Amino acid sequence: MEPIRKVGVVGAGQMGRGIAHVVALSGYDVAINDLSKEAYDAAVGAITKNLTRQASKGKITEDEKNAALGRISFAENYEGFSDADLVIEAATEDETVKRKIFVAVCPFLKPDAILATNTSSISITRLAATTDRPERFIGMHFMNPVPVMELVEMIRGIATDDATFARSRELVSSLGKTIAVSEDFPAFMVNRILLPMINEAVYTLYEGVGSVDAIDTAMRLGANHPMGPLQLADFIGLDTCLSIMQVLYEGLADSKYRPCPLLVKYVEAGWLGRKSNRGFYDYRGDEPMPTR
Ligand SMILES: NC(=O)c1ccc[n+]([C@@H]2O[C@H](COP(=O)([O-])OP(=O)(O)OC[C@H]3O[C@@H](n4cnc5c(N)ncnc54)[C@H](O)[C@@H]3O)[C@@H](O)[C@H]2O)c1
Repeated sequence: MEPIRKVGVVGAGQMGRGIAHVVALSGYDVAINDLSKEAYDAAVGAITKNLTRQASKGKITEDEKNAALGRISFAENYEGFSDADLVIEAATEDETVKRKIFVAVCPFLKPDAILATNTSSISITRLAATTDRPERFIGMHFMNPVPVMELVEMIRGIATDDATFARSRELVSSLGKTIAVSEDFPAFMVNRILLPMINEAVYTLYEGVGSVDAIDTAMRLGANHPMGPLQLADFIGLDTCLSIMQVLYEGLADSKYRPCPLLVKYVEAGWLGRKSNRGFYDYRGDEPMPTR
């Protein structure tokens, strides 16, 4: 089997750009596709900023930074993935969006290319079934922010073959990440545990038990969490949080996963957290300001 040299990334949002960053820094060529060139340009701007920060802290050299940037290119369409050995989908957490991407991308891929998804919650087996290669399809769940977080959850679909798992595992290890293997259950392990806690924090706010600041302070200082749950929700993206809760609610058919109506309302308002400059905090000023 050919070693992995080139990686395609679909989606240049928070996660796609983070994945491209670590993959390029580890010596692989990376082609990024998104709906517009503007999204790609914004991603390269963020990657440049983050690589510069790493270089200024002495974690990488200037040469490594420049070499990584030189390996990243724009794939205007899926033809740009025709020489990729692996394509990682990191588009919006919406099953319809992901299915459409897989159907469209498959005809352009090399027969032995691996297709991976960074989904936070959706069934790997079900997504794999929309492709022409369920045996070469895998869940590769990076954490946010990708350059900082050490874990990658790896999830096999029912059809994923051993060679795909082994090649994917080797690639992820070569990025300096630690792997935790999860069975293909809704939201896997990290989000199965984390998201109900975040949803409960939103209920705590909704029911008036505490303010945004009180809830986050309580969990930071009372449970020794590095970040409060509402701050973390803003960081993840409230749309992504809601999608994960919906997958848990529907996939496990248990009312304990019911998304909090306040979370639904925030998403309906377009208050998606840091990425839209407003969520449980307002990010337009110098300091994030709690909104409730
Ligand atoms: N945010 C997190 O903390 C986190 C952590 C782990 C995994 N994930 C998962 O990563 C994926 C992306 O999340 P994100 O936080 O980067 O979201 P995001 O909203 O920041 O970015 C999504 C990107 O996908 C692009 N996109 C949408 N449809 C597309 C299409 N058809 N073709 C190409 N690009 C398309 C959007 O333009 C956007 O740039 C989701 O599946 C999410 O569940 C997110």
